[in-house]
Amino acid sequence: MNTSEQGGSRGSVRIIDLPVISDRRGDLTFVEGRNHVPFDIARVYYLYNVPVDSERGGHAHRQLQQVVFALSGSFCIRIDDGHATSEHWLRDPRKGLLINRLIWREMDSFSQGAVCMVLASHAYDESDYIRDHADFLATVRG
Ligand code: TYD
Repeated sequence: MNTSEQGGSRGSVRIIDLPVISDRRGDLTFVEGRNHVPFDIARVYYLYNVPVDSERGGHAHRQLQQVVFALSGSFCIRIDDGHATSEHWLRDPRKGLLINRLIWREMDSFSQGAVCMVLASHAYDESDYIRDHADFLATVRG
């Protein structure tokens, strides 16, 4: 683990590969805080029953780090670090997208029955959200 990530690197994303134990009974994947993800896991939430034309996200976080997984189905996460944009398709339950602090994210193109699980470094705190894109750009560029 990169030491700087433990404090929550800003403005970066990367794919995290989780272990898988496979045998004839099926696949088993596990995740441990401060081992497979670079923070203690304070919260888990998941999105399901998402209409295929739904758009989620549309915000950044001041301190929160998250790792996003497609446990079932697929969806697209569009990333903006204030300088460049990228898009990441999640469709493998063993691969999560680490989203560090101060990253604008939007999620769309959910497949039928997609399940999105998010591991988060902190409990829910509305004051940690930046929900206005102009405010986000001012924060990262300022
Ligand atoms: P939001 O983070 O905007 O959802 P998304 O990014 O998936 O589009 O949250 C939607 C609503 O749910 C908002 O009213 C806040 C609430 N919420 C909680 O109460 N606790 C949580 O852990 C999360 C993630 C959201």
